[in-house]
Amino acid sequence: MSQKPVVLIAEELSPATVDALGPDFDIRHCNGADRGELLSAIKDADAILVRSATKVDAEAIAAAPKLRVVARAGVGLDNVDVSAATKAGVMVVNAPTSNIVTAAELACGLLIATARNIAPANSALKNGEWKRNKYTGVELAEKTLGVVGLGRIGALVAQRMSAFGMKIVAYDPYIQPARAAQMGVKILSLDELLEVSDFITVHLPKTPETLGLIGDEALHKVKPSVRIVNAARGGIVDEEALASALKEGRVAGAGLDVYAKEPCTDSPLFQFDNVVATPHLGASTDEAQEKAGIAVAKSVRLALAGELVPDA
Ligand code: NAD
Ligand code: MLT
Repeated sequence: MSQKPVVLIAEELSPATVDALGPDFDIRHCNGADRGELLSAIKDADAILVRSATKVDAEAIAAAPKLRVVARAGVGLDNVDVSAATKAGVMVVNAPTSNIVTAAELACGLLIATARNIAPANSALKNGEWKRNKYTGVELAEKTLGVVGLGRIGALVAQRMSAFGMKIVAYDPYIQPARAAQMGVKILSLDELLEVSDFITVHLPKTPETLGLIGDEALHKVKPSVRIVNAARGGIVDEEALASALKEGRVAGAGLDVYAKEPCTDSPLFQFDNVVATPHLGASTDEAQEKAGIAVAKSVRLALAGELVPDA
C-alpha cells in the first residue's frame, strides 16, 4: 500500500496541476460530479482538488477521515461547506485571482454579444438566413453599465467596458465610494442602479443574501431596453423571473454563463433568441486553468507538509 499522501483530483484540471504537485503524492482521479464515485474515492484522500461541479459538503467531508485540505481551483467556494470543513479540522484553499481576468473577459464578451445579437445572427446565417435588419443592435458608447458587485471581477469589467465609452455605476455596499470614484465608478443603491442601467452585469458571490437578488421585484424596476449578464453564479439572477421579464418585453436581452442547477442543458431561457448562453465557461481559458491549477497545487503541498499557506 502506498505511504504517500493521497491527492484526489475530482475534476478535469490543467496538466500543470499534476506537474506542480510533484512526485510526493499518490495522485488519484475521480468524477466528483458522480456522488457515489466521490464518496467512495474521498475515503482515502488526504487532499481533494475540485472546480465547481463537485459538492464537497458535510456528507463528503464526513466520509473522508484522512482529509486535511480541500482545494478549489478557482474563485467561488459555494460548492464547499467551509464551516463543516473547519469543524472537521480540514483546511479550505482556493485560487481567488487565478481566473479573474478570464472571467471578466467572458462577461465583456457576453455584454457585447447581447448588444449586437451576435449569437442569433451567427445561428441564422449558418442556417442560410442573411437577416441584416432583424439583428440590428445597440451601441455601448454613452450607455450606462450597472455593475452589481464591484469586487475583483466587477472592477475588471468596469475598467474594460469604460474603454468602450460606457458610463459605469455600481451597487456594492462593501466598497468605499472613494475607491469606486478612483475607478471612475459611481456607487448607487440597487434600486437606483436598476433604474438607470442600459446594461447590468452581476459579479457577486452566491450567498443567502445574493440568491435571487435580481428577481421579479428587481426586474420590474429596470428599463425595458436593459441587457443583463450573469457570469457569477446561477440563481443570483432568478431564472424564472428573467424568463417572464423577457417574455413580457421588460428586459431586452441576457447573457448567461451560470445556472441555478448545473449542468443545465434545458432551460426555458434557451428558447429566447435574445439570450446568449454559455456552459459555465467563465474560467475556461488555458491561462486561467494553468494559474488556478498551479496555485492550488502549491497550497496543497504546503498544507500537507504542515506549513503555513499564505493568502493567494
Ligand atoms: P470578489 O469577492 O472579489 O467580489 C465580490 C463583490 O461582491 C465584493 O466587492 C463584495 O463586496 C460584493 N458583495 C458581496 N455580497 C454582496 C451583496 N449582498 N450585495 C452587493 N455586493 C455584494 O469576487 P470575484 O472574484 O469578483 O467573483 C465574483 C463572482 O464571480 C463569484 O460568484 C465567483 O464565484 C464568480 N466567478 C465565476 C466564474 C465563472 O466561471 N463564470 C469565474 C470566476 C468567478
Ligand atoms: C470560479 O468560481 O472560479 C468559477 O466558477 C470557475 C470554475 O468553475 O472553475
